[in-house]
Amino acid sequence: MKALVLAGGRGTRLRPITHTAAKQLVPVANKPVLFYGLEALRDAGIREVGIVVSDPREMLQPDSRTGERTTVMVNSQAEIRHAVGDGSAFGLQVTYIEQEAPLGLAHAVRISEAFMGGEPFVMYLGDNLIKDGVTPFVREFEAERPDAQILLAHVKTPWEFGVAELEGDRVVRLEEKPQQPRSDLALVGVYLFSACVFEAVKAIRPSRRGEYEITDAIQHLIDSGRRVRSHVIKGWWKDTGKVEDMLEGNRMMLMGLQTDIRGEVDAATEIEGNVVIGPGSVIERSRLRGPLVIGAGASIRDSYVGPFTSLADGVVLSRCEIEHSIVLERSRIEDIPGRIESSLMGKDVVVCGKETRPRAHRLMLGDSSRLELS
Ligand code: DAU
Repeated sequence: MKALVLAGGRGTRLRPITHTAAKQLVPVANKPVLFYGLEALRDAGIREVGIVVSDPREMLQPDSRTGERTTVMVNSQAEIRHAVGDGSAFGLQVTYIEQEAPLGLAHAVRISEAFMGGEPFVMYLGDNLIKDGVTPFVREFEAERPDAQILLAHVKTPWEFGVAELEGDRVVRLEEKPQQPRSDLALVGVYLFSACVFEAVKAIRPSRRGEYEITDAIQHLIDSGRRVRSHVIKGWWKDTGKVEDMLEGNRMMLMGLQTDIRGEVDAATEIEGNVVIGPGSVIERSRLRGPLVIGAGASIRDSYVGPFTSLADGVVLSRCEIEHSIVLERSRIEDIPGRIESSLMGKDVVVCGKETRPRAHRLMLGDSSRLELS
């Protein structure tokens, strides 16, 4: 059995972070979302993985020194190749499959036919997090040998997902992001297919939003009398397309954290709960209330870091309070009067308070940034 991991797409709902980074590489608990998926596939005994990559983008960006806007290539594909390499660090053998544009999940399957070479495969959406992995679903598929197997989960906002209608445990209808959902059962981003899916992805036409939908391809399998099994999952699952979902994913992944302190913590610092501190980090006169993770080379002074916070390598905090947040590499937060919470900050971000008069907010925010002041 092989696997197909989808790591193309646009990531528009996580802008501005995704202006400069692939959404699948945004970390939760200081590990890129994509890596959880790759590890889950490895744990299920899969070795050969095709990763669909796409979307080299040309965009205008201000020069950090002059402020002048210049055209740069933001190539999420190169970034994913750099982060995952040949897959050996994960115990996998990775082949990259280039998609010329994000034309839909079924299109991504279509261009992977040669790589699959007739074998059944797991398709895993690179922005999905499944706490308990995929091993039981892979075993079930191998034992039952259906033509396709989908995973479903009860959700509160079914209109944001592919939605399944069941009769007993038989799938009768699938619809992509319906305005009037017929059930609250969303398609989870893990699918198991036999080679007959390739007939289906070739038979369908683009949807109203112009994408080749995998839901339409699976509906085609059902309509042609193929056996499509479903499995309603009980464990925690998240599609990390939005900030709130990233923060929830972060909370979930930090929940089982075990304390591991490698940096230096001074005697004036108080630590409660489970805390991970990377090598070279220095914590002084602060209060850390876990679960939380701090990467390598960070500096935390006279600050409070609260539960469910992930601070990446090189983050600097001084005289501030933060909780339930994700802060990426080398960002600096200093002298902030209120507590920062439920926030996602990118790399090299600077947030600092000043006592100078007249009091005013001075901002330099990238495109699609969001700032809530109170
Ligand atoms: O997360 C579950 C949902 O995923 C399902 O309920 C939906 O039925 C399914 O269509 C999908 O919906 P999304 O709107 O969340 O899909 P998104 O565009 O975010 O793409 C999912 C992943 O696949 C993401 O990592 C980007 C990648 N992708 C996407 C497209 C459209 C590609 O690699 N190529 C593509 O052409």
